[in-house]
Amino acid sequence: REKQRLLVVANRLPVSATRKGESSWALELSAGGLVSALLGVRQFETRWIGWPGVNVQDDKGQKSLSSALEEKGFIPVFLDEETVDQYYNGYCNNVLWPLFHYIGLQQEDRLAATRSLQSQFSAYKRANRLFAEVVLSQYQDGDVVWCHDYHLMFLPKFLKEANSRMKLGWFLHTPFPSSEIYRTLPLRSELLKAVLTADLIGFHTYDYARHFVSACTRILGLEGTPEGVEDQGKLTRVAAFPIGIDSERFIKALETDMVRSHIQKLRGRFAGRKVMLGVDRLDMIKGIPQKLLAFEKFLEESPEWQDKVLLVQIAVPTRTDVHEYQRLTSQVHEIVGRINGRFGTLGTVPIHHLDRSLEFHELCALYAITGAAQSLGAGAILINPWNISEVAASIEDALTMKEVERKERHRHNFMHVTTHTAQVWADTFVSELNDTIVEAELRT
Ligand code: G6P
Repeated sequence: REKQRLLVVANRLPVSATRKGESSWALELSAGGLVSALLGVRQFETRWIGWPGVNVQDDKGQKSLSSALEEKGFIPVFLDEETVDQYYNGYCNNVLWPLFHYIGLQQEDRLAATRSLQSQFSAYKRANRLFAEVVLSQYQDGDVVWCHDYHLMFLPKFLKEANSRMKLGWFLHTPFPSSEIYRTLPLRSELLKAVLTADLIGFHTYDYARHFVSACTRILGLEGTPEGVEDQGKLTRVAAFPIGIDSERFIKALETDMVRSHIQKLRGRFAGRKVMLGVDRLDMIKGIPQKLLAFEKFLEESPEWQDKVLLVQIAVPTRTDVHEYQRLTSQVHEIVGRINGRFGTLGTVPIHHLDRSLEFHELCALYAITGAAQSLGAGAILINPWNISEVAASIEDALTMKEVERKERHRHNFMHVTTHTAQVWADTFVSELNDTIVEAELRT
């Protein structure tokens, strides 16, 4: 059986390009959960359409980059600097991202932002049009088109206007906030109506799906049903599809010499100390300052641990042109400096903080020596990151936990991660999309 063709459309391509010469390019793997998960999806014949993370205006540059990407099945959408500033830095990352994550801007900052909103919104639409043009140039009859994230809420509308028979899904990789918060967005209705043109809309959790449906009922006055949102007999299916990782890739990597020797090196270097690991983009939603403050409190209260524990924090820089991210970077550096100054010795410091991403094999080795805990229900120790004392106590619990309990929790996590994979996630979404379309055809 031939593989189903899938067009994945997301703002960022899995690789970001840097120009090395007139026609020569360096490609580096992009950071972020969306890329990690979608790269694991191999069961379709996938083409990926997105922004290469670089401004290229000349013909030679665009052609050479396109052909460098082509081999990997990636198709670039070229955005000029002004558009990137207004659409990506502005509307996406300074308006939608904080709002969807309930990050309140100061009243003054928000008022100031409101003034530039109209031009940012126009750039947002313009960028979405450019994405649509590239998708249409790649589209073949029968393809499934899967649009991703808050950057591309207009894309379903532009695509359906061009071809109403296109099989089209849209997926949000962030929370969708309660309608009470969402309704403060000045262009709230236009955005909702635009995504509702998709056949299937997916979220990571049931709560986000529910919030979306109630935004549609409260703000647009449409009807919410257990299946989704109905507008004059036309149903847009809305559902939750929890995402996963490509667990096989990690398990296989653990058997390679490269990862094994790296694990040995790390074990040697960190001998006699427990290692705690954080791997995050340097983003306010990741709670890095909170984590550091809790770690500081823990060291303060448990001096016997001071030379026996180490926090390795990989903090991958992100959205560095946005003011809030610059502020966060300084804040984090200041806290790390203070803690290392307070608790460090001539030989060691309690925090190893890295402002960069790691190669996959390095990361894999780090995960192998620490064991990674996500919010995994039964397996993980769940905390409220804003309660620094509680987090400090949980650090202590984790460090002193009995071997049996640790193994049991790990077994739970491992089972979850290896069954709820990226592949299962994508399969479930695409078959739901196919079913939704068959059902819609039966209804008419
Ligand atoms: C989150 C978003 C993705 C985004 C990623 C990295 O995971 O949901 O859409 O690609 O962050 O952020 P960036 O702005 O660098 O693409």
